[in-house]
Amino acid sequence: MKEKRTGFATRLGAIAATVGSAVGLGNIWRFPYQAGDNGGGAYILVYLLCVVLLGIPIMMSEFIIGRSTHKSMKGAVQELTPGSPFKIFSYVGVLGALLICGYYSVVCGWVIEYLWNSADGSLLGHTPEQYGDMFGALVGTPQRCVLWTLLFLLLNFLVLSRGIQKGVERMANIMMPLLFILLIVFCVNSLLLPGSMKGMDFLFNPKFEDLGWKGVVDAMGQAFMSLSLGVTCLITYSSYFNDDSRLMKDAVTISALDTLVAILSGIVIFPAVFSFGLEPNAGPKLIFEILPTIFQQMPGGVIWSVLFFVLLFFASITSTISLSEIPITFMIDEYKMSRVKALIITAVLMTTVAVLSALSFSTLSDVKLFGKNIFDFLDYVGPNIFMLLGGLVTAIYVGCFLKKEIIHNQLTNGGKYRSSFVQPYIIFCLRFIAPVAIIIIFLYYTGIF
Ligand code: TRP
Repeated sequence: MKEKRTGFATRLGAIAATVGSAVGLGNIWRFPYQAGDNGGGAYILVYLLCVVLLGIPIMMSEFIIGRSTHKSMKGAVQELTPGSPFKIFSYVGVLGALLICGYYSVVCGWVIEYLWNSADGSLLGHTPEQYGDMFGALVGTPQRCVLWTLLFLLLNFLVLSRGIQKGVERMANIMMPLLFILLIVFCVNSLLLPGSMKGMDFLFNPKFEDLGWKGVVDAMGQAFMSLSLGVTCLITYSSYFNDDSRLMKDAVTISALDTLVAILSGIVIFPAVFSFGLEPNAGPKLIFEILPTIFQQMPGGVIWSVLFFVLLFFASITSTISLSEIPITFMIDEYKMSRVKALIITAVLMTTVAVLSALSFSTLSDVKLFGKNIFDFLDYVGPNIFMLLGGLVTAIYVGCFLKKEIIHNQLTNGGKYRSSFVQPYIIFCLRFIAPVAIIIIFLYYTGIF
């Protein structure tokens, strides 16, 4: 017996919310520095292949599980394949979401401090070394880190408390178009800077000698992170899709927009880095240390920096909303809880992880898990274990264990549309390419590559 639940109000709203989940710090903060570190165009090429061969098929498999049952993973697997042990992975997804959102919201906290400092004018007017010191001082001061993280989580849960349509969907409908407009304005601005072409060359010229197996595995992890795969996020969101949404078209649109934002972010950052003669291989600090240096050399720098951190804030909150929705929907589905109760439990658990990660550069810096502090440990296991392995498990589940009729039904909306080559393509990728990817990753981690 299927219960009717309130889903997204419109197809466009569902797409906006899913793009909101996909577009986040992963695109604007992580993708540019990873491309910079791994051979520019060579990395982008491998990344695009990962999106087409793994990302879209795995996104489709999450959509098929969620939309066919309108349930989160555990109930969905029970309904689709009764008795299947794959339902265990629903717990892995929920745990993954709690841990990922825990450290992700610390970075979102930094974004709010930078936004605040941009607005009151204190961010600009320093030397590049001072920016390094400022960032160090922020992460090293427990009160500041914790406070901003808590403020961010409060906003996150306020939106979630308004529900799927009035909270999640409405927020995405407003923020996503604004984000695209801002990003395009930033791109044009960067391209007009003197010497910008050197940055474009750095970003797009394929340097295969700098790629290596590390670059390949990084690109795979980045595709999973960026498309929100592997921790049942897209199963959760698609359980709120209407039966008339077109899964394949929507998956392609969402992946294309997500990839576009990543590449546009690279176009915002590298031309400016080269134009101002800064160091492109700055790694994770790229946006926090390099960008303020750039903004302050630009006319109207204060406005640019406020707008940039607003953009980053929009991108990040629509992502944490989707991560938080995983445990919330899970508890509502499995334990028949009210939304408020599920939200409070999720908030308590997530805030605990977030505070521990926020303190891991200061008070708790001596606490090491496998040689890493808490934040770095979560940043490692999140993408590399939960997302990658979770995504690949989903691939195998749908590719090998789900009845073909169910897949066909979902791809064609019950026979209304044709699926032509789509179904064999997806099944081929899920059955053959995903396992090869697992083997590459495994060999890489065991040091054979
Ligand atoms: N995709 C987001 C980003 O690029 C992060 C994210 C949001 C995510 N929801 C997720 C990652 C679910 C994995 C699973 O920043």
